[in-house]
Amino acid sequence: MKICIYPGSFDPITYGHIDIINRASQIADKLIVAVLDNREKKSLFTVDEKLDMIRDAVKDYDNVEIESFEGLLVDYAKKKNAKIVIRGLRAVTDFEYELQMAQINRELYHEIDTMFLLTNLKYSYLSSSAVKQVASYNGDVSKFVTPYVADMLKKKYNKYVV
Ligand code: PNS
Repeated sequence: MKICIYPGSFDPITYGHIDIINRASQIADKLIVAVLDNREKKSLFTVDEKLDMIRDAVKDYDNVEIESFEGLLVDYAKKKNAKIVIRGLRAVTDFEYELQMAQINRELYHEIDTMFLLTNLKYSYLSSSAVKQVASYNGDVSKFVTPYVADMLKKKYNKYVV
């Protein structure tokens, strides 16, 4: 059974991520979408909120599981018996960071491979940070995220309005 892990911050999940999940789920027998639980990294959403938004977005995929993980990705991969990490590449600018991460992961765990999927051109400009910025100014994010995520963003940012 080919188990793949698609790790990330997913703060929040966008249509770009969903496109990668859709394609990776056709390659993997089981795809684990793994949300990094890192208390040091400042996130807009809690891990539980991130998991909820991903669950809602990928509820129709039978072979996709959603979990959070702490610590090193390779340790989590070993625990899950996964040997393939999936990452999306939007542009050349992503490459250096991704290459470094993939090489470090392979040094730490020789059996792991990283598979890069090119982000659909349609979403190549999209990032969670950009989406948050648009939402923070009350902009329309409906082209970038699911209605559930758009609603969650609205709730988050409205909380700060007095
Ligand atoms: O969505 P992101 O923020 O680009 O995802 C980055 C992520 C979560 C894949 C990466 O930070 C990660 O794997 N963190 C876990 C810690 C780890 O294993 N680090 C070693 C590789 S540099």
